[in-house]
Amino acid sequence: MRVSLIYARSENYCIGDRGELPWSLPDEYAHFLRTTAGAAVIMGRKTYEDHNSYLSGRVNIVVTRNPLMTLATHVLRASGLNEALRLAERDSDSAFVIGGSSLLAEALPLATTVFETVVHAQLRGDTFVEPFDFSNWHSQQVAVHPADMAHAYGYTVYRHTRRLAGEA
Ligand SMILES: NC(=O)c1ccc[n+]([C@@H]2O[C@H](COP(=O)([O-])OP(=O)(O)OC[C@H]3O[C@@H](n4cnc5c(N)ncnc54)[C@H](OP(=O)(O)O)[C@@H]3O)[C@@H](O)[C@H]2O)c1
Repeated sequence: MRVSLIYARSENYCIGDRGELPWSLPDEYAHFLRTTAGAAVIMGRKTYEDHNSYLSGRVNIVVTRNPLMTLATHVLRASGLNEALRLAERDSDSAFVIGGSSLLAEALPLATTVFETVVHAQLRGDTFVEPFDFSNWHSQQVAVHPADMAHAYGYTVYRHTRRLAGEA
């Protein structure tokens, strides 16, 4: 199964604030929905609580150590990343780990593709992603979006693809 990561971070690597995204960027969210459509999405419990509902058209898996956690209909629970990937594999050949920070770091060694949005701002928040080193990956800029009336910040979307062994 293909494992990918997808996340958006500010220039100072902020991804969240008080349980929510630190921005409202509708076109960036549309990119997230388009990219993950039809795949399984794997998320930490706090990320799930940010939207607290089922993301339609994809297998939703929440990772938590709490076996009693109540989830929306159709949302699956996993006790760790490995169990989440086993559940994803039942219905899908592609899984996206969508955050938060520790799950992204744990899944990076398994990922072949990372969709990273860089939001062009220095932001305050309480959740940060590690500055992953993509210098040995193929990195492609796939979209540039300026700030506008609906988007307080501009952003750039990158697709990082892991180089195969022996590949230049
Ligand atoms: N900008 C972005 O792209 C993006 C993406 C995702 C989230 N966010 C933001 O980031 C914040 C949430 O992220 P976060 O890093 O604080 O939390 P998170 O990763 O969403 O959730 C952390 C929780 O997930 C569970 N968990 C994580 N790894 C686990 C593992 N290996 N095994 C078992 N359980 C595991 C634990 O739940 P239990 O405590 O229940 O055991 C842990 O407390 C929110 O503000 C959200 O809006 C931003």
